[in-house]
Amino acid sequence: MAKQIHLNGFIQNSPSPHSTGLWKHEKDEGTNHNRLSYWIETAKILERGKFDAMFIADVLGTYSVYGDSHEAAVKHAVQLPAHDPLIPISAMAAVTENLGFAPTISATYAQPYALARQLSTLDHLTEGRIGWNVVTSYLESEAVNLGLSTRLPKELRYDRADEFLEVVYKLWEHSWKDDAVIFDRENDTFADPAKVYLINHEGEFFNVPGPHLVEPSPQRTPVLFQAGASPKGRDFAAKHAEAVFTKNHSLEALKAYVADIRERTVKQGRDAGDVLVFPMILPIIGSTEEEAYEKYEDLTKHVSYEGTASLLSGHTGIDFSKYDPDQYIEDVETEAVQGNLDMYTKDPNKKWTLREAIKNHGLGNGTVKFIGTAEQIADRIEEWAVEGDADGFNIAQTYSPDTFREFVDLVVPILQERGIYRTEYTGKTLRENMFGKGRAHLPDNHAAKKLGSFQSSLRGYKSSR
Ligand SMILES: Cc1cc2nc3c(=O)[nH]c(=O)nc-3n(C[C@H](O)[C@H](O)[C@H](O)COP(=O)(O)O)c2cc1C
Repeated sequence: MAKQIHLNGFIQNSPSPHSTGLWKHEKDEGTNHNRLSYWIETAKILERGKFDAMFIADVLGTYSVYGDSHEAAVKHAVQLPAHDPLIPISAMAAVTENLGFAPTISATYAQPYALARQLSTLDHLTEGRIGWNVVTSYLESEAVNLGLSTRLPKELRYDRADEFLEVVYKLWEHSWKDDAVIFDRENDTFADPAKVYLINHEGEFFNVPGPHLVEPSPQRTPVLFQAGASPKGRDFAAKHAEAVFTKNHSLEALKAYVADIRERTVKQGRDAGDVLVFPMILPIIGSTEEEAYEKYEDLTKHVSYEGTASLLSGHTGIDFSKYDPDQYIEDVETEAVQGNLDMYTKDPNKKWTLREAIKNHGLGNGTVKFIGTAEQIADRIEEWAVEGDADGFNIAQTYSPDTFREFVDLVVPILQERGIYRTEYTGKTLRENMFGKGRAHLPDNHAAKKLGSFQSSLRGYKSSR
């Protein structure tokens, strides 16, 4: 059987979040992100396209690196307004049956005990269709608004996230036995207290006695997504993630990334295929190749130069208001998103000026663009899946939600005809749709399953740390 690919739709609760300035396009409806109708329509499109999940990005602060101010971000809607990613999910779940939802939540600013409850609640309400994009956050403006005097160093953010996950694993996987809830009316017993454990977590960053506030949900642990790009980030992904998002300019860069992630995953005692790799792509479809390139040029005219400079400044940590547009981008180490900077400083084929980087970053946050007819785009998807070893694709948008609609109407049927994309969902839960029927839960080789052993007689659980 030919390799089967997976698809996710990339969105954020903000107008034109990944193509800065596209809110001005006549086809764009992203300014309706404050309406349930927008989310319901988008979810239905993705489910019609048999997507695994809607991946909802998020940031908790403004893009204020550019000119040391939030002005450009406010003026050009640079991922601002930034509404909550969790709130629209119940409404979308009510009008879909199989589509998963992977909201982004920061392990740097959330509290594990409360977050575990939120995601378990959603896993119940969606009947097992919840994922979580685990991020450690890169903006200084997030830190200072959320109780820190400054952004934590990247390494420390990952250390904290690692312990954060240990806490939520204990809550999700080990606090309630499968058969704890018994609904025994005669004995006035809703749940058996002998089967609900404290977790007694005592660590460097968190002390959480537990128990978990929610009885086991269909997947227990939500499907874990991550986008680590630094060596520490990749190790974190290899240990915890079930799928990773990546952003590449080229097939070569993708190949190197996938090989590295697979190797790191195996070192963690997992199977190479336990972490699915989803490169992000921006499809620009025309009825002819020429028309697609004309469309691309038209779309770039809607990109906001200053807005994108502000976005890129936030992504890289460099204040580009001080740059001349024809200046080459400097290769430095950043506490922000190293991968976003490396795209423009470590490209073996070219040196990037700020002006060129902005043109590229303005559409799809700088990710690779697949421009052409639907057939040509399907060809490249197949090439990246087979030669690049991608497991699936994270589809970004220019105008929303019509970029998704065009992709679902024009490209998905070709992928299905070629036998590389499903015509029906595999299972009920998100994890089954990603990994196959019968895999609603994390496999035994995952870090969450290796956190000490339980005995039913134990009232408390001593941390294995
Ligand atoms: C496709 C993609 C989507 C991302 N979405 C978010 C997001 O919504 N919020 C966020 O704070 N970081 C997001 N990131 C950034 C990553 O979480 C991570 O910080 C980044 O890839 C840098 O990794 P590193 O910290 O290991 O260098 C995203 C990255 C990629 C590639």
